[in-house]
This record gives sequence, C-alpha cells and structure tokens, in this order.
Amino acid sequence: MKKALLTIYLLAFLAFLAGCGGGSIVLGRTDGAVLASQYSTISDDNISQASLNNMEENAAVMQAVQLGQNYNVLLLRTFQSGIFREFANFSSGPFELDMIGGNVALNYVSETAETAAENIVGHIAITFDDGPHPVLTPLLLDALEERGILATFFLLGWAVDSNPDIVARMYEAGHSIGNHSYRHPRFTDISRQRIVDEIEHTNNAILAATGSLPTLLRPPYGARNNTVLDVARQMDMSVVLWSVDPRDWDHRNALLVSENIINYASDGSVVLLHDIHETSIEAAILAIDALIERGYVFVTVEELFSLSELTLQAGEVYRSIYHSIGASQ
Ligand code: NI
Repeated sequence: MKKALLTIYLLAFLAFLAGCGGGSIVLGRTDGAVLASQYSTISDDNISQASLNNMEENAAVMQAVQLGQNYNVLLLRTFQSGIFREFANFSSGPFELDMIGGNVALNYVSETAETAAENIVGHIAITFDDGPHPVLTPLLLDALEERGILATFFLLGWAVDSNPDIVARMYEAGHSIGNHSYRHPRFTDISRQRIVDEIEHTNNAILAATGSLPTLLRPPYGARNNTVLDVARQMDMSVVLWSVDPRDWDHRNALLVSENIINYASDGSVVLLHDIHETSIEAAILAIDALIERGYVFVTVEELFSLSELTLQAGEVYRSIYHSIGASQ
C-alpha cells in the first residue's frame, strides 16, 4: 500500500514537473506523502547527467534534516530525455525508475530508510577479487544488501563456472562484475594468446551466468605490460586497479584491515579486498559502517567514474578517479 501511494504521489508530481524542464529534487516520505520539492532554475544545457549540483544536494540534505526522522529521501532530477537518480547515504535500498514515453513507473522503494541525514563527504568504490566463494560471498552479499550498498566484484572464471547462481544473484542485485582472469596467472609471464584465453573464458563464464559481458578487467596481481593493455583494448575492456590496498590477504585480521581502509580511503578511492577470506568480509563490513557514519557513499566502480564525469576507456589503466595511468607504466 505504501509503495502504491508513493507511486501515485510521485507520478502526479513528476507529471507536473514534466512540463517544466530543468532539474528537480523530490523528497518523499515512506508513508507516501511528497513533503517537499525544489525546482531548480538551472537549464538543461548547463546540467550534466552524471552529477547533482552540489548546492542542490546540500539544500536537499538540509531539508531532510529539518523534516526529521524516518524519511526516505529520493533525490531525483528530471531531464528532457529521462530521469537519473542519486542516492544520499541517508537513504538506503535500491529503487528503479523507468521513464518510457513520458510515463514514470516507480518499481521499488526501500522501506528501511535511514533515520539520520548527513552530508555526503565523498564516494568510494569497494572491490572484491578472487571470488565468488561458495559460502563467504553470499554472506557478503547479505551484508551489502542490508546496507543498500553496491560493490564491484572481479571474478575468477573457474569460480564463476562453479558458482553461477551466486554470480547471477550478484548481477541481479546491481553489483558491478569484472574479469579477474580464469585461473589467476600473472599476465606478464604468459603469452599473448594465453592472456586472450584467460580473459575470454572468464567473459564467457560471466556471460553465461548473468547474460551480460563485463567491460572491466583487473589482471591478477595488477600485473600488466603493453601486451596486456593491447589485448584489453582489443577486447573493449578498461583495466581497473586500486588506490587503497589494506593487504587483507596478508594480515587476515579484520580489525587491522578495517582500520587500514578507514584511515586511507577517501573521496574517489577504489578499495581492494578479497571475498575469499572471512576476515576480509568482516573488515569490509566494519569499514563500510564506519565510513558511512563519516558521510561516505559506496558506489560501483562505474558509478564512481561517472560521478566524476570520467569515461572509462578501453585499454587504459585506472586506480582511482584521481589516478589514471598510461600504457607504459
Ligand atoms: Ni587476485
């Protein structure tokens, strides 16, 4: 019932806005009432699809604070051609907006909105390598789902073939899925043809499990040379490394690893973890909760780059939004 009510209110409101053009922010309460709205005077020419204007964002956050507890806050922006969404960290859970031929359909709204509104201090992409693990990865997915958080998984082809259901669940939840080779060889030690095979077999395994081909590649150990980058370019894949390495595979100590993440992660960071160690998953959850508390929002690698209006290019290497490095390095 709540969802239906909210849908009706949103439909009415968005129908009103449809004639206006420009950007808008809608604050919706979980009981369905549209409580407040702002209409921006920024013209479509000035706004980019990827990022919300900071002032608008802050204004919405301020209003959410004034409105008090138990509000599910949606920041929506209308465009001529569609609707894009941005989640503040005080609003949890996924929802989908489809805009087809001018009709807006709200498919799902989280009923577990956070009660406290905080300013967003930055966005972080958390990434997990070497999975999926048949037992640990589902536990991690549960924890991420509880928090309404999306992550990025760099999967091993053999593990995908062994656990296709977990990969399908991951994909359906909206997580990003990248390629981490089939059997984890060091790409700089093998022939070009073997590199191609490693990537292709893994892409095929992911395609079979999800129906979608990955575009992100993380070579094992981050090892790459010009051959690796050339193959990546040919296969239309971007090479994504990391900017924060808490060395979870080495320490195997949840508290220490989580402290490493909390101390070194900042806006634009890509964090490296491995969802094949129990301590790494505990560390991830500890760090995520602490960083959410500090005002960070967790996004996928693709979302992180699109928020910065950076387009990931095939054959290029990325560490964080501040570090894309050339082929020779
Ligand atoms: Ni690895």
